Amino acid sequence: MDDAGVFLCHDFKHELAEAISISAPDHLFVLTDETTHTLCSPLLQGIDELKHAHQIVIGAGDIHKNLETLSKVWQSLSNNGATRHSLLICLGGGMVTDLGGFAASTFKRGISYINIPTTLLAMVDAAVGGKTAINFNGLKNEIGVFQSAFRVLLETDFLCTLDAHNFCSGYAEMLKHGLISNYETLNDLLAFDMTNIDYSLLKKLVEKSVRVKENIVKKDPKELGLRKALNLGHTIGHAFESFALNRQQPVLHGYAVAWGLVCELYLSHVNAQFPRDVMRSVIHFIHENYGSFIFTCDNYEELYQLMLHDKKNKGGIINFTLLNDVGELRLDQTASQGLIYETLDFYRECMGI
Ligand code: GLY
Repeated sequence: MDDAGVFLCHDFKHELAEAISISAPDHLFVLTDETTHTLCSPLLQGIDELKHAHQIVIGAGDIHKNLETLSKVWQSLSNNGATRHSLLICLGGGMVTDLGGFAASTFKRGISYINIPTTLLAMVDAAVGGKTAINFNGLKNEIGVFQSAFRVLLETDFLCTLDAHNFCSGYAEMLKHGLISNYETLNDLLAFDMTNIDYSLLKKLVEKSVRVKENIVKKDPKELGLRKALNLGHTIGHAFESFALNRQQPVLHGYAVAWGLVCELYLSHVNAQFPRDVMRSVIHFIHENYGSFIFTCDNYEELYQLMLHDKKNKGGIINFTLLNDVGELRLDQTASQGLIYETLDFYRECMGI
């Protein structure tokens, strides 16, 4: 179920052409959203293998990651002669790779797909690891399957068109990968200047980061154990994300994860002796680059209820991934309501709100 191959491209056009040739599809489809169609499709120009590809363009943004859009993609595949031997190329951020991967995995019981992520978040997380999904019934990623892409091609040149907020959003998942791997990776990430991006250094950091995820997914593709490591920062992060969404003030996923990391490192410190100095330096980096998410003690109960409804929980018990130290995982941890409230107090104090 792990991705058959995540390739950091040196010659993107050549590597894409080669992947298409190996797949030898009878029909080829390229799925983009309105944004990536304009910004990124030009980078596919001049690839002979794509000359007869059928273009499918969907609306941009998470609001379009739904059954209606999925149906439109199935319809395009069906109306344009797709068979089991056809190939779908998903070019875009996590919304395109999640929905496109699901469309491909279900059409005629599954056709091959290639992910070409164009955002940092999709490169280091969403497009890698075979999780595909759409939102349904007001719930994020409610319907989907595990089905790996035939190839994931990483072309970091796409990142030059990424705005600062989306850059920071993806970088939060890289910080998470640093925390669950080792000090060397984490320290390199904390030393990176987010305000003056060195793209050649970034390329190296992206490669390291994606390998962290790839290695975990290879060992546990269906999240039965080890893959839960990737949930660090996400239990409280998802609560922040939903809280903001409920107030029609959505925050980018990675920002919520970064703020969630602040809280879950504190929980790791209290419950698992995670070193205080490392916690402090990660929090400092997050405060500097992500600002703070604002809430008051009147919001604790609502945030707690959101954590109780997290889909990672089992039997109504809030599930956390914590750390004893960098790279030392403590899976399937929980915390009392009192400790969670204390954590929210800590967050507000150290983030100055
Ligand atoms: N985004 C976490 C995972 O792929 O498991």
